[in-house]
Amino acid sequence: MKIAVLYGGDSPEREVSLRSGRAVANALKKKGHKIYFIDPAKKNIVKKLTKIKPDCVFISLHGGQGEDGTVQGFLEILDIPYTGSGMCASAICMNKIITKKILLSHKIPTPKFIEVRKGDRLELPFPFPVVVKPANMGSTIGIKIIRNMKDLPIAIKQCFEIDNEVFIEEYIKGTEVTAGVMGNEKPEILPVIEIETPSGFYDYEAKYTCGGSKHIIPAKVNKKTLEKIESIALNTYKILGCSGFARMEMIVKNGVPYMLDVNTIPGMTNTSLFPDAAKAIGISFEDLCEKIVMLGLERWRKQKRE
Ligand SMILES: Nc1ncnc2c1ncn2[C@@H]1O[C@H](COP(=O)(O)OP(=O)(O)O)[C@@H](O)[C@H]1O
Ligand SMILES: [Mg+2]
Repeated sequence: MKIAVLYGGDSPEREVSLRSGRAVANALKKKGHKIYFIDPAKKNIVKKLTKIKPDCVFISLHGGQGEDGTVQGFLEILDIPYTGSGMCASAICMNKIITKKILLSHKIPTPKFIEVRKGDRLELPFPFPVVVKPANMGSTIGIKIIRNMKDLPIAIKQCFEIDNEVFIEEYIKGTEVTAGVMGNEKPEILPVIEIETPSGFYDYEAKYTCGGSKHIIPAKVNKKTLEKIESIALNTYKILGCSGFARMEMIVKNGVPYMLDVNTIPGMTNTSLFPDAAKAIGISFEDLCEKIVMLGLERWRKQKRE
């Protein structure tokens, strides 16, 4: 197959995306596919894509327009199949405030939160510490744990410098876990991973430096909690309309998994969480990348009613 790997881009997560894209491309090359690299930050992607006419685009972009439905919608217009979730699910999952509102309406636990509007008087319905977050970022960019009222206004101000939507979440002290889900109509769960970081805060450094975090597979939670994590992950995937693959992040406290984040384009370097979970059940990185392409094509055919 001719596969175009979209990587890089101009989001703050560019560097990670370049790493994911290279790893995916190498894997798909090993599987015998012809690979074309396209960096939307550098090339006129319309010209390139219409010239190459790929059988599928592997979207290896993290954050920004690559993950928020914009690139997905653009590929719909160009009539080119692509990997991962469609436009709508991508857009929903990129916005943590919208995601949380949908989760709450389905009684899926997520930390309590309030939306912040510029100039609002701050009244917190939950105690410190709290977490100040931009609604539309990833890789822990802009996220701050705040322990007192004195530090809150500056954290909010800094957050508004990188995003137009900001919210404050209650801090959950617990065990951080992640669950990969793969598939279209009948999604399947991958082994749940427990994430151990030296500080308990899974920040940019812990995510992307070697040894910055420890992946524990399977997670050291009891059977009942594990089943809850799995069913919440699968439910969330279905409710939000994800397809192809996605990775859910939760913090477990007193046996309750609180959903933090849904990644519709999880990191795909050889040491990333999603491929690590797949490896634990014997799916090689090469097979995983090819499977994600196949799922993209399957969704495309269904959508076109072929
Ligand atoms: N409510 C919270 N309570 C405790 N830790 C949190 C909370 N929200 C985020 N964190 C920490 O910050 C990290 C990044 O937050 P997350 O919501 O997943 O944003 P991102 O999309 O940037 O990954 C989490 O993996 C976790 O370590
Ligand atoms: Mg996250």
